[in-house]
Amino acid sequence: MHHPIDVASVDHALMTTRSVRKALDLARPVDPEVLLECIDVALQAPTGGQREGWRFVVLTDEVPKRAIGRLYLRAFDGYVADQPDAPGAQRPNYRLLAEQIAAMPALILACLEGRPERGSNAARQVAHYGSILPAAWSLMVALRARGLGSTWTTLHLVHEQEAAAALGIPPDVSQTVLLPVAHMRGAVLRPAHRRPAREVTFWNRWGTTR
Ligand SMILES: Cc1cc2nc3c(=O)[nH]c(=O)nc-3n(C[C@H](O)[C@H](O)[C@H](O)COP(=O)(O)O)c2cc1C
Repeated sequence: MHHPIDVASVDHALMTTRSVRKALDLARPVDPEVLLECIDVALQAPTGGQREGWRFVVLTDEVPKRAIGRLYLRAFDGYVADQPDAPGAQRPNYRLLAEQIAAMPALILACLEGRPERGSNAARQVAHYGSILPAAWSLMVALRARGLGSTWTTLHLVHEQEAAAALGIPPDVSQTVLLPVAHMRGAVLRPAHRRPAREVTFWNRWGTTR
């Protein structure tokens, strides 16, 4: 049977899942059961070849959070040094997140079994990361729907091997995004200003808009 869906709620959740770096209650713990519920939602995402190679490493203890937090901050400082004019290097919220990341109640690292083969073609590369990133995005939306803010981050991957060593992640596992998670506190989530579909959508041939 086809169940009707509340289109407005779905669109609202998808359009207001923002990066939340600041308006977060770091003192309020996050219920592990709620995180598992959100991960179960995320596991309904597509998975290449039905492999379900996704693995989520949830950090709630001080020691692993501090280890990853140190790597993230070091990577952030390197990014600021390399690209001082990038928007992410200049906005205070990005630095705030880098400095506070270890104090987040939970850090969720989305991982995938296997590594993209060196020099592999586009099909393989897209299939590889495409088997975890849709789930990670679903996770962010599911968290947001429950009042939990997060941010899509990749900076710690500059030090991926050190992170693997700190968390016991085997060498044949790919790390992807790291989502710092906390209850939102007064965050106002609105649709972002983005170029409209009409400008970025081509019909039948590259460059043809309608
Ligand atoms: C591939 C990718 C990598 C990102 N890496 C980081 C990161 O390491 N740290 C961070 O604070 N934000 C990171 N972001 C978040 C973007 O800065 C953010 O999505 C963008 O500013 C738009 O804001 P919004 O997420 O609220 O729509 C990343 C986003 C993407 C898509």
